[in-house]
Amino acid sequence: MTDIHDTPDIATRLARPEILALSPYAHASWDPTLERLHANENPWRCSGDNSPAGLNRYPEPHPAAVEARLARLYGVSAGQLIAGRGSDEGIDLLARAFLVPGRDAALVCPPTFGMYAVATRIQGAAVVEVPLDATRGYALDEAAVLAAAGAQVKLLFLCSPGNPTGRTLDGTAIERVLSALAGRALVVVDEAYAEFSAQPSFAPRLARFDNLVVLRTLSKAYSLAGARCGAVLAHPSVIALLRRIIPPYSMPTPCMDVVLAALEPAPLAQAGARIERLKAERARMLEALGGIALVRQVQASDANFLYLQCHDAAAVVARTRAAGLLVRDFSQGRYTPAGVRITIGTPAQNDRLLEALARP
Ligand SMILES: Cc1ncc(COP(=O)(O)O)c(C=O)c1O
Repeated sequence: MTDIHDTPDIATRLARPEILALSPYAHASWDPTLERLHANENPWRCSGDNSPAGLNRYPEPHPAAVEARLARLYGVSAGQLIAGRGSDEGIDLLARAFLVPGRDAALVCPPTFGMYAVATRIQGAAVVEVPLDATRGYALDEAAVLAAAGAQVKLLFLCSPGNPTGRTLDGTAIERVLSALAGRALVVVDEAYAEFSAQPSFAPRLARFDNLVVLRTLSKAYSLAGARCGAVLAHPSVIALLRRIIPPYSMPTPCMDVVLAALEPAPLAQAGARIERLKAERARMLEALGGIALVRQVQASDANFLYLQCHDAAAVVARTRAAGLLVRDFSQGRYTPAGVRITIGTPAQNDRLLEALARP
């Protein structure tokens, strides 16, 4: 593991001093070749436990095999990645490692994923909002972002493709923000929906920008939202810092097994084919929803959902609900007036939705 005290790297420059000084929890040693009488586990399995390792045993403290596999999937080295319980845990770890309560801030660009602000506020830090430019397809307002990114801003959360907008942010604009904030703030590019986009991941840019953090997840494209597995990709000093604060045993043994199985060649090929089906359905729904009278505008999307601006959002929500379908109502949000987000489902679900909305 990188010793974060050796070099004035990006993590040392930006981390909370308490985290740099922290002695991480010393978990029980891990040696699967020896019998375990050191961790106060129960020696017998509970009835019905047919798992390979036995759930009476703690998991591996840090899921090395899962992390090695994810590093291969995302094209980074093992030292550039930490796995957690969804990318939500990554967001939380970043806030806890870098934001000094009562002093620091995170910058977010609404409308955007809500957990950035929630994790920041739980940490006792401030949230600086710089809205996306709705008049330019929810583009990054680069000048406003840089003007607002004062000394107290340590984290910038950019969601691309965006939730709920579905729009991919301009890569060259993100690069300029990364350069402008070099040594001053981490720029977190959340790529939860990247597999549904034709744009390349930002991960290869980790070689050029030590203040870049990329978030990935298995929840969307890999059908594993229930397994809770995501990853933070970053400079090795940032990863080493996050390893100091992630709880030991954070990934349950059954989740590790499921993740490793899902990333074998056959399920990977199936996931790829399903991504293509969802993209085809997305194109069909974009066109069909555009012709529905209740809908004013549908944003083109690089994600597995569509964002609508409605003439009557309440009617859209009520009609879909009556058809047994839940959609996400954003219409009361400050940055999402009349907004409704619809996840692309199976062709049959999508047909039902269209039918419910098309009725006169
Ligand atoms: C943009 C974005 N980031 C992160 C997450 C959290 O994903 P995970 O399931 O990996 O915690 C979501 C979930 O909806 C999301 O939309």
